Amino acid sequence: MTNDELPLVLGIESTCDETGIALVRGDQLLGQCTATSMDQFERYGGIIPEIASRAHLESFLPTLSRALEEADVTLEDVDAIAVAAGPGLVGSLTVGICAAKTLALTLGKPLYGVNHVIGHLAVDALVDGPFPEKSIGLVASGGHSNLLLIEDIALSVQELGGTLDDAAGEAFDKVGRLLGLPYPGGPHVDRRAQDGQLGKIRFPRGLAAGKDKERYKYDFSFSGLKTAVGRYLAANPLPEGTLEDPERAAEVANICNAFSESVNDSLTAKAVLAAQLNGCSTIVVGGGFAANSRLRALLAERAESAGIEVRFPPMRLCTDNGAQIAALGSALVRAGAAPSDLDFGPKTAMDLTETYLAPRAVGANL
Ligand code: KG4
Ligand code: ZN
Repeated sequence: MTNDELPLVLGIESTCDETGIALVRGDQLLGQCTATSMDQFERYGGIIPEIASRAHLESFLPTLSRALEEADVTLEDVDAIAVAAGPGLVGSLTVGICAAKTLALTLGKPLYGVNHVIGHLAVDALVDGPFPEKSIGLVASGGHSNLLLIEDIALSVQELGGTLDDAAGEAFDKVGRLLGLPYPGGPHVDRRAQDGQLGKIRFPRGLAAGKDKERYKYDFSFSGLKTAVGRYLAANPLPEGTLEDPERAAEVANICNAFSESVNDSLTAKAVLAAQLNGCSTIVVGGGFAANSRLRALLAERAESAGIEVRFPPMRLCTDNGAQIAALGSALVRAGAAPSDLDFGPKTAMDLTETYLAPRAVGANL
């Protein structure tokens, strides 16, 4: 079958502050549009769920129109719809799910309620092609830091381990706040870390020594590290001045560098170990934190010396988007998965082994 004959899947993302809509056929991204309400949250230093939900409601139709236009298709061309069912904020999810059900019912098309986190990995197929037979998935975002064994991105994903406390992006955001950087801190800490001097300061690595190293070989812990940064700052107050004053900027850069080094040392060492221990020659990385420059460089370096290929989606597909949902929907349709029952609600927590909400019994779909 040529790609043109494969089903056209509409993907809808609304788990947090991005309204993302995309159209995918096979492994080809035909068009997408993303609206974000993040600019409304900088002054609060965090997401206000009610503002995010309202923004989804306002953005949905214009985002849908633009995505259809970019893909040069109409709603009548769509063969299946995928929507992020979770995990995420209940109000935000509700807007996307409601819209998706309305479209599915009016168009008479099947609906798949998919796992947003698995979508972060599935999106890589749109750039690097089909997944190999077996690979390691590293998901790193504001809410997740997990290592997965992927045998089939649509139907068979096992969880090897994950963070015991903070996620990588969350830890970056918290340290950004400690250093007085704008919200969300992740990209700012990343940028400033690049100006820091490697090795000038050293922070501990979580679960990297003694019995913990063996017992938690696929797990992460970043909350002790965040505490270590807090303690360092209490013992070594930052030089007076603004963040642009050279002395203060240099110290902030060194702290960011040491902190980033610790997080990325753990993520990359354990991802490579997981690949080696599970006989995988590919690591697929996804999630907002996959935009981190040090993660990209260090993982590429370590994987290369271990003879492992690393697949990173491009930056624009790392933060939340509709393409990740459409890509997973497309993989499910092609795998012959039965659509979800239409009575599902938002899943604020969703097991990573649950790639989508499978129907209770085949044929019970509305
Ligand atoms: O996947 P995502 O868009 O939303 C969640 O599902 O969480 O990830 C957002 C997270 C935030 O914590 C943000 O600070 C972090 O990813 N992030 C980064 C970078 N870009 C985004 N963290 C470190 N370095 C970056 N370059
Ligand atoms: Zn995400």
